Amino acid sequence: MLAVINIWLDVISTLLALGMVFGFVIPHFIGSILTGRVRKHFVENYWDPLAHRVHDPENYHYKQPISNDFPPATRVWHWVNLTSFMILLISGLYIRYPFFYGARESFRFVHYIFMWVITINLIWRLIYFAKVDWRNYLLFDRSDISNAIAVAKYYIFIGPPYEHRKKFNPLQRPTYPMIWGLLLLQAISGFIIFRPAIVPAFFSGMAGGSAAFAAFARLFHSTNTRLMVTIATVHAYLGTMEDYPVLALFWFWREPDLSKYEHEDHGHGDHDAHGGEPDVEAELPAPPITS
Ligand code: HEM
Repeated sequence: MLAVINIWLDVISTLLALGMVFGFVIPHFIGSILTGRVRKHFVENYWDPLAHRVHDPENYHYKQPISNDFPPATRVWHWVNLTSFMILLISGLYIRYPFFYGARESFRFVHYIFMWVITINLIWRLIYFAKVDWRNYLLFDRSDISNAIAVAKYYIFIGPPYEHRKKFNPLQRPTYPMIWGLLLLQAISGFIIFRPAIVPAFFSGMAGGSAAFAAFARLFHSTNTRLMVTIATVHAYLGTMEDYPVLALFWFWREPDLSKYEHEDHGHGDHDAHGGEPDVEAELPAPPITS
């Protein structure tokens, strides 16, 4: 039975990955070109999240410089997580589909090293989350309902740029804890594959013994890999397309120059990029004041 499930898993996960690329990423990218968002962001270098930060820092909760909102510890965490994730993905895929001969033991060894790295890193993040920054992810209020609708409309190109009121938008906020949850399940299933005996007999007995339980854990581990890769791809795509300045800060410690937004007459309607050509006059920031 497991063999049949494994084949279905391959078919379904391939469809999921293709659906994500052809059903979301490519159409969204084409939409972004057609509506002028690509030009606005990457040619004119105009970013609504930055303009909002400058024009109403208190109301929008943002601070200047932006780096205050992204502590270095969390940036290092993200690098360790990203690097370990990529290494685990490549070594894990080799373990499942040995695409060339003779490296099984080496890839296993690598997987066993980085499974500890990513797990320790994750435990640190969960402690930090519980002690320091859970509010950024789990607090919602009434205004988030209308804001969530505005965010969704913007992303499907039928609304103007939404207001950046809090550190993360209401659709983005729960996504990160959800990703950590998936990572935690990945670690648990991975350690069960690694040491099947850690599962209490009561539970492993339900599957017919610890070897059978570990086989189901492997199935889960594999399925979850595909789910996480799909989510991570969308996360990377949107982070680059819609919030590159923050990504540059988070990844490369590059604080964006906010001075160009300081003297413009900021109104959310002016920077409407949801249809047709954007109003270039309105898009361009006022020149900096020179003394
Ligand atoms: C979080 C901690 C993790 C632990 C404890 C862990 C542990 C393991 C173990 C013990 C195996 C079996 C290796 C063998 O057969 O010798 C495995 C396989 C695998 N791992 Fe992980 N892993 C972790 C994270 C990840 C991550 C983050 C990914 C993907 C990004 C991943 C992808 C895979 C894949 C695709 C396999 C092959 C599964 C199969 O044979 O069907 N693992 N993992």
